[in-house]
Amino acid sequence: MCGIIGYTGKLDALPIIMEGLQRMEYRGYDSAGVALIENGKLELRRSLGKIIELKKILENETFSAKTGLGHTRWATHGRPSEDNAHPHTDCKGKFVVVHNGIIENYYDLKQDLIKKGHVFKSETDTEVVAHLLEENHSGDLLKTVKKTVESLQGAYALGIMHIDDPETLIATCNASPLIIGKNGSGLFLASDITALLEHSKDLYFLENGEVCVLKNEKIEFFNSDLESIKKETTHIDWNPVMAQKQGYKHYMLKEIFEQPSAISETLMSRINWDDASIYLDEIEGFDEDFMKNISRIYLVACGTAWHACLVGKYLIEKRSPFIAHVDYSHEFRYRNPKVDDKTLMICVSQSGETADTIAALEEGKKRGAKILSICNVLGSTVARKSDGVLYTRAGPEISVASTKAFTTQLVSLFMISIYLGRISGTIDKAKGIKMLNDIVEIPDLLEKTLEMNNDLKKLAGRYIYKQDFLFLARGINYPIALEGALKLKEISYIHAEGYPAGEMKHGPIALIDQDMPVVILAPKNHLLDKTLTNLQEVKARGGETIVFCQDKSEVDKYNVDHIFEVPETIHDLTPIVMTIPMQLLAYHIADQRGTDLDQPRNLAKSVTVE
Ligand code: AGP
Repeated sequence: MCGIIGYTGKLDALPIIMEGLQRMEYRGYDSAGVALIENGKLELRRSLGKIIELKKILENETFSAKTGLGHTRWATHGRPSEDNAHPHTDCKGKFVVVHNGIIENYYDLKQDLIKKGHVFKSETDTEVVAHLLEENHSGDLLKTVKKTVESLQGAYALGIMHIDDPETLIATCNASPLIIGKNGSGLFLASDITALLEHSKDLYFLENGEVCVLKNEKIEFFNSDLESIKKETTHIDWNPVMAQKQGYKHYMLKEIFEQPSAISETLMSRINWDDASIYLDEIEGFDEDFMKNISRIYLVACGTAWHACLVGKYLIEKRSPFIAHVDYSHEFRYRNPKVDDKTLMICVSQSGETADTIAALEEGKKRGAKILSICNVLGSTVARKSDGVLYTRAGPEISVASTKAFTTQLVSLFMISIYLGRISGTIDKAKGIKMLNDIVEIPDLLEKTLEMNNDLKKLAGRYIYKQDFLFLARGINYPIALEGALKLKEISYIHAEGYPAGEMKHGPIALIDQDMPVVILAPKNHLLDKTLTNLQEVKARGGETIVFCQDKSEVDKYNVDHIFEVPETIHDLTPIVMTIPMQLLAYHIADQRGTDLDQPRNLAKSVTVE
C-alpha cells in the first residue's frame, strides 16, 4: 500500500505535501518523492528510505510552487530504489504521475510503448501510466486521462499533473482509495483521511471510474464517460490530534492504551437496555426476516482481523442457531464457496482497503450474499461496498500492528452474536441483560489489565535474543494465541507460532527445549485442566513457561517459570482481556530489540495489493 498526496491552491505546495506524506508514512515507507511545477519547470526530488531522507534532500532548497504531488511507497513492482520511487514522468518530463495500487497489465503495455519508442527509467508498473498519457495526449488533459485509464487493468489511485497546466491536478481511481478535500487555501487529494484531516473534515470519496479535476479553487467531478456529476461530502469526526503520538514512544503503545476508550466508543449508543439487545442501526439494509432465516454465515478477513473472525465463530455459534464459517479472504474468493441469497457474509477489516477482503466481498456479493462489514475507517472501500457496516469507533490506528482495532472488532462480534441470539430467540431478555452487563464491564477490565505493562516490560528483557516462540491456548482463546504470535513476529522479527494447546503433541512438541519460551493462556474455564496438562508437557521438555491465568493458585503448583493473573470475566470475554498481555509482551520485546515497530520492515498498514 502506498500513500499519494496532491495540493493546488494559494499556499506553497511543498510543506503541505511533506506534512501529508509524514502522516501517511505508515502506509508504506521504502522510498518517497515529490514533484512541483516551479516557474514552468518540473522539479522532481525522490529518495530511497523514509520521508526523513526526502526531507534531507530538500532541506537547503526553497520552492514557491503552488501545485504539486507527493508519494510514499511500499514496493510492489521494482525493488525500493530512487529510480523506482514516485512520482514518475513521461519521456519529455511533462506528465507527472503518483500511483497507489497495481497495474496488472503493465508488462504488455510497456512492451507496446517501448516499440513506439518510449524510454523507461524504472522497473515500476506506474511509469507505464506516464508514458501512456504522453502517447494519448490530445491537448485535452481530461480526455487524455480517460483514454489512458481505459487501457489499464488492476487497482489504481492516480494523481496526475502536466507541466503546461501548472494549476491543475487530476485524480482518478479504481479499487484503490482516493479522497478529495477543499478549504479556503486550496484543493487536496490523498489516499488517506489522516493526510487531509488538518485541512478539512468534509471529504469526498472518489468511486471507481470517477475522475476529479482540481483547478483554481474549484473541484469538478466526472463519471467514466466524462459527464459532470455532483458528489456529497462525508463528515469525518476524527480530530488530527488523534493521529499523533501524544507523548507515547510509539503509536502502538498509545493505541494499546487507547483500547478501553475505543471499546467504550464502539459500545456507545448501541446497547438497548429496554429489550436487552443491541442497536445495529448501521444495518438498516438487513430486515429482521433476512436475519432470522440466514442459511449460513461466512466470516472473512486477513491477518489480525481473521483472528477476530475465529473468536466471532465461537460467539455466534454459541449464542445463535446459525453456523459460522471462517475464511481467509484470499482463500474464500478462489474456493468456489457455497453462497445463496440467505447467506450473511461478515467482512472484517480495520482499513477497509485490504485488496483480498474487497475481492472476497465482491465474490460473495456476486453469488447473492448480504454483506455486513466491521470497519474502522469511515467511507473505506469495504464499508462503501457493504449492505451494512458496523464501525469500530477506535479512531485512526497508525501503527502497522493492529491493536485497538482488534479488540473493538471482538466487541463488535460480541454485539452481533447477542443481536443474532435475540432475534433468533436463543437469548431471552434475562440472558441478554446479563450479557450486556458483562460487555459494559470491558473498558474497566482492560484498564486493570493494562496495569501489567511494567511487569511485562521487565519480563521482555529475557527474550530479546530468542529465535522462536510458541503460543498455546484452547477454545475461544486459541485465536488469541495466534494473535500473540502474529504481534510478536510482525514487530520484533522473532519467529513465533500460535497453536491450539491440544495440537502441540501432534508435532510442535518436537520444537520444545530450554531455548523455547512458551506462552500459555490458561483462563478459568472447562478447558483449564487440559491446558495445565499441556503446560506440564512443556515443562517436562525444558520449555520456559509464561502463563496468563485468572487464578494463580490453580497454576503455580506446576512450577511455572512466569505467572501473570488477568482480571476475571465471563468465559466469552476472556479473549478480549487475554489480548492485552499479548500486545504488551510483543511491544516490549520489539522495543528492547530496537526494531522500527510502528513501521516494521516489509509491512504496510493496509495491504491494498493482492
Ligand atoms: C495485523 O497487526 C497486521 N497489521 C495485519 O495482519 C492486518 O491485520 C491485516 O493486513 C488486515 O488488515 P485490515 O484489518 O485493514 O483488513
